[in-house]
Amino acid sequence: MKICIVGASGKLGHYMIAHALDRGHEVVGVCRPESVGKLDRFADRITIVPGKTNDRDVIRRAVEGCDGVLTVLAPWGVQQYASGTAQAVMDFARPGARLVFSCGWHISRDGQDRYSMFFTLLVPILAWIARLFRLAELDDQVEACRRIFESDTRWTVVRGSDLEEGPSEGLPVWSRHVGDPVLASNLTRRIDYALFMVAALEDESLVREAPAIVSCKSASALAHAAPLTLAATRSA
Ligand SMILES: NC(=O)c1ccc[n+]([C@@H]2O[C@H](COP(=O)([O-])OP(=O)(O)OC[C@H]3O[C@@H](n4cnc5c(N)ncnc54)[C@H](OP(=O)(O)O)[C@@H]3O)[C@@H](O)[C@H]2O)c1
Repeated sequence: MKICIVGASGKLGHYMIAHALDRGHEVVGVCRPESVGKLDRFADRITIVPGKTNDRDVIRRAVEGCDGVLTVLAPWGVQQYASGTAQAVMDFARPGARLVFSCGWHISRDGQDRYSMFFTLLVPILAWIARLFRLAELDDQVEACRRIFESDTRWTVVRGSDLEEGPSEGLPVWSRHVGDPVLASNLTRRIDYALFMVAALEDESLVREAPAIVSCKSASALAHAAPLTLAATRSA
């Protein structure tokens, strides 16, 4: 499969490149020009397209001929970065391409997610502070996902829990709604988040799903029988 990784130079991007190469995919990576050097260890195995990920011309060139696109939705700056990136990917990826996007649990597809009081208070406060200091626009990540959910593309929005570094624990389990018991541990290794993103490219059951993920070795995943796995069907 020929795939494009948008936001390739970040931590998640590095892991996604490694998993994609392991699976034999041909990889095109997009990253900001100042970050190209971060990809030196992959330079002879991937094609790099330097540019801001919300630059429509950059995305148009990068996704050309790709069967799948993995996009890191980053809310940084006050420049509609996440929504501009998502829109460009949806506009220029070939019809039928698999589009997989990353975001956090704060994104809700249908309003059925149940958050802790702490989380409910924390997100708007963080969003306000980030915007005040012109660091990030969490609202724009919400807008990006709203557009994705409404699109008729073959999308998956993977909602990451809190993340930690460390060796792989295996493919995370997922559920449709934050608040479901299987997700209670709220922790996933970043390397496994990337594994889920890459595996989702070839999992038809995840088309037009917004899985919230958690480590398969977490206490909540182990405690709850028959969690939805990546291969689970829509009938769950
Ligand atoms: N961190 C968490 O705990 C967490 C939890 C749940 C979900 N997620 C989701 O996971 C994904 C990756 O998050 P991450 O924290 O692991 O970060 P990451 O992989 O390091 O990715 C950050 C991305 O943002 C870019 N970036 C950084 N500063 C920027 C700026 N000022 N302007 C434009 N782009 C900038 C980076 O590009 P450069 O390489 O060019 O700097 C990189 O592509 C995101 O979609 C996030 O919502 C994260």
